Amino acid sequence: MTETGRDLSALTRHARATIVCAVRNRQALATFAGVFVISALTSTCSAPRPAPAPPAAQQLWGDMKPVVSVKELMRDFIDPASDYVFDAVGIVDTKKNTVETAPKTDADWEKLRVGATMLAEGAYLLKVPRPFAPEGDVNNSTGPDPEELSPTQIKAKLEADPVLWNAKIEALRNVGLEVLEIVKRKDAKELWDAADNLDQACESCHVAFWYPGEAALLKKLDKKLEDLYGIHPGRSNKLGMDPK
Ligand code: HEC
Repeated sequence: MTETGRDLSALTRHARATIVCAVRNRQALATFAGVFVISALTSTCSAPRPAPAPPAAQQLWGDMKPVVSVKELMRDFIDPASDYVFDAVGIVDTKKNTVETAPKTDADWEKLRVGATMLAEGAYLLKVPRPFAPEGDVNNSTGPDPEELSPTQIKAKLEADPVLWNAKIEALRNVGLEVLEIVKRKDAKELWDAADNLDQACESCHVAFWYPGEAALLKKLDKKLEDLYGIHPGRSNKLGMDPK
């Protein structure tokens, strides 16, 4: 494991101090070298008022043990969970008329609640260190103009900026929470925005960690054109996904 990875696990195991000051400086968080430095940072942070008592470090009831890679977690958990939201609202244009989908029955809303809970809770499974892809799978990272980063490259990105990875996880969780609130109010109109936010949450992490290259971005642009003007560049697409 690299310095940062080791430091972060040390943090979860041992930290008793609040890192309010440290998180102001992402660089500091990415490079601090253990509990000793955290307390040093905290104590040199000058607060205008007496600092509130540091919250107790979070205790888990037991070890978190991953079962699958990030790639499989996406395929078999996060992606299916998101479909509850993406499939709940939509407009289908047929030659004859326009059919709008929206949750109507209690059963429809329950399905949405299931999806929202899976997203809000399941997002945190991405905080458990796990391989990015199954053994031997290097993604579409080979060839002259590779679309995807390899699992090794993705891991290096995360280790260089774990704060960003966590921010993307929180963003995903927030959309789950947003949908849970919408389910309580049964406000179908707000679901459109929520589905957009969800697409953004998936996409912005993918662009940051999975396919930051130009090729993928161009395809994304194609998709926007398709959505706006009905131009079909000949690719099938799905919200939240690599537009390939
Ligand atoms: C915190 C970052 C992050 C978020 C948020 C995220 N993903 Fe991913 N996702 C990844 C990474 C990284 C990969 C590539 C893993 C690999 O192939 O090595 C990936 C891959 C995938 C894959 C490919 C799986 C396969 O079998 O090839 C799908 C599908 C997917 N994500 C769907 C989603 C959807 C849908 C959402 C939103 C609801 C989402 N992801 C949110 C990081 C994220």
